[in-house]
This record gives sequence, C-alpha cells and structure tokens, in this order.
Amino acid sequence: MTDSTPDLLRPLTDSFGREMKYLRVSLTDRCNFRCTYCRPENKEVKTHDEMLSFEEVARVVSIVASLGVNKVRLTGGEPLVRKGVVDCVQLLSGIEGITDLAMTTNAVLLDMYAARLKAAGLSRLNVSFDTLDHERFSRLTAGGKLSEVIKGLNVAVEEGLVPIKLNTVLMRGFNDEEVPAIIDFAADHGFTPRFIEFMPMSDGLDWKKSYISVDELLERDEVRARIDLTAMESRDHTASLYLPLKDGRGEVGFITPISKRFCDHCNRLRLTADGRLRVCLPSDEDADLKKAMRAGATDEDLINIIRNVVLRKPESGEYTYETLGRKRSMVEIGG
Ligand code: GTP
Ligand code: 5AD
Ligand code: SF4
Repeated sequence: MTDSTPDLLRPLTDSFGREMKYLRVSLTDRCNFRCTYCRPENKEVKTHDEMLSFEEVARVVSIVASLGVNKVRLTGGEPLVRKGVVDCVQLLSGIEGITDLAMTTNAVLLDMYAARLKAAGLSRLNVSFDTLDHERFSRLTAGGKLSEVIKGLNVAVEEGLVPIKLNTVLMRGFNDEEVPAIIDFAADHGFTPRFIEFMPMSDGLDWKKSYISVDELLERDEVRARIDLTAMESRDHTASLYLPLKDGRGEVGFITPISKRFCDHCNRLRLTADGRLRVCLPSDEDADLKKAMRAGATDEDLINIIRNVVLRKPESGEYTYETLGRKRSMVEIGG
C-alpha cells in the first residue's frame, strides 16, 4: 500500500490489528458423505436460490481481493457436488490479487474433475482422510467408499493437481492408533499428513469421549519414532505446526484449535454458501452479504458492511462442549 492508496481500499484489518488475507468459501452445504463429526442428523440443505450464484461469489472475492485478501479456499459440504464447480474455479482464478486458489475436498469426485480443475486454475488440494480402514471409513461417512477416495487421489496426482495435504481429524478409539500408518501412507505417496484436533461442531459423536490432544499423540512411541520433535522450538505455531519426518520424507502438520489456539495469527474469513460472511469459525458473528447484494448494494456499500463485521471479529474463538448449540454446523461453514 502506498500513500496514494485510496482510503476505501486500505487493508482489511480487525480491531486487534490482524490483517485479513484468506477467505474460505463454502460452495454448498451438500455432501456425498455424512461424517459424524461434521454433519448433524437430518440437516436440511439449502435450495439453489438460497445459495450465492458464482457471479455473486466472484463479486465478494473481487472486493476482498481489492482489500488485500490473496488466498481463497473452496470448501463445502463437498465443493465438487456443486454443479458447475469448474466454471466457478475459472471465474475466481482470474481475479486480480488471488495468488493461491485451493480446495478442501473428500476426493471422491476427483477422478472426474481433477484435470478440469487444474486447467481452470486451481492451485492445490487438501483432502479429508480420516482412516485407512475400509470398514471404518464406511461407518464414519455412512456408506462412503475409501477406494473411491484413493482413486481420486491417484487421478489428482496423475493430472499434476499437487501439492496435496491429507487432513485427519483425530478421534480417540476410532483412528488415533492409525496415526503412524497414515503418516507412512502419506509420505510414501508424496502427500503431507495433517492431524487436526476434533472440534465440537456437530452432535453426531460424543465429543468429550472422542477428543484427543496433539500433545497426547506426541507422547506415543510410534509417533515419536517418526517425527523430529527437536524442531518444535524453532517452528512458529500458526494455524498449522509443521514438524519434519526423521527419515527426510517431508513434514507432518498439526492443527490444535482446542489445546493451543492460534487466534493471534488469524487472518481468515469465511463465506457460507448462503452468503454470510463469518469472522471466526466458532462464533456466529456474521454479515448477510447475499441480502445486501440482492437489495442492490454498491461495491462501496459492501466494503462498508465487510469492514464493520471484520471489526466485530473476536480476539479469540471459544470452543467448548457447551457451545455445541451454535446455529451452524461444520458442513455449513466448511471448516
Ligand atoms: P492450508 O492453506 O493448506 O494450510 O489449509 P487450511 O488448513 O487453511 O485449510 P483446511 O480446509 O485444510 O483446514 C484444515 C483444518 O483446519 C479444518 O479442520 C479447519 O476447520 C481447521 N481450520 C482452518 N482454519 C481454522 C480457523 O481459523 N480456526 C480453527 N479453529 N480451525 C481452523
Ligand atoms: N473437527 C475438526 N476438523 C473437522 N473437519 C470437519 N469437521 C471437523 C471437526 N468437527 C475438517 C475435515 C475437513 C476440514 C475442512 O475440516 O477434516 O478436511
Ligand atoms: Fe462431507 Fe467433509 Fe463434512 Fe465429511 S467432513 S460430511 S466429507 S464436508
């Protein structure tokens, strides 16, 4: 920014001095899976008209890009079930200022879409990957097939839609014993594994019983045997903490929203499929951009609305079991 930058386009900064650089865009609250940790039972999905059109999404992205946001991630539900998703990628990848356009997906539809997503300008992928066990996978997702995920990953690699991170939500008694095997699987295939503390965002699993902290994981011999923990001191704990594998096959990431919050460095905003701009994952503070756009708001009006809601971003997000009653579950927000 220079002295001649018009005041309207000054950076998007919250009341704690954090600059917003990253927008997560949920394209749909539909999903081809029903993961217990993400989606409550019998959740109604939005109709087409309730959701932002791609033109409306692109308008919001262009505006925040003019205010300094440079990273956009498409999420869901499952972003690949939104009809025309490749057109959306094409539209967003052409927006000036967006240098990183990524997607978080369950990978099932990648065999169909990877080549087109790459051609449309998608930079990279993160893939939900919670278990290597076929039966367990089917149970978690209510009928999903792990073989389709693996196929999707293979096609993405063949099409050069890389790098790929694998996201594993840690759940005690479900997949915590699989951590060493998932690390090895990821390293063998050139993926970066990341282990995420389970957040109480749905009522489908007993969170208290399932939660396990990253610290507890790092106490385990089989995990310690693989990871260079001496690097811990020198690494910044931003949203993900990355530690090297001892055998040089890359890194492992840890995301600790419960045990060690990383809100100090938070630069994230979220746009829900129905057009609400959320300023913090576990807080329901938001602004209804769809309503404003459909009522004829100008770009300047939208900038004012966006700045105002950003000023209401809390210093830190609160996840407690008791906040389970929040209005929106993970499948609507996109993680
Ligand atoms: P990279 O850009 O590759 O680092 O991806 P990412 O971690 O930003 O995105 P991804 O969709 O892969 O998210 C991984 C996990 O991190 C999900 O469980 C998210 O819910 C969690 N996560 C991402 N951003 C935040 C955040 O602002 N707060 C909290 N508590 N969790 C977050
Ligand atoms: N806790 C932690 N991570 C979650 N995700 C979905 N629900 C939860 C939860 N309750 C993760 C998925 C996905 C990412 C966008 O969010 O692993 O990869
Ligand atoms: Fe779907 Fe992903 Fe949520 Fe599972 S975690 S229900 S795959 S959006």
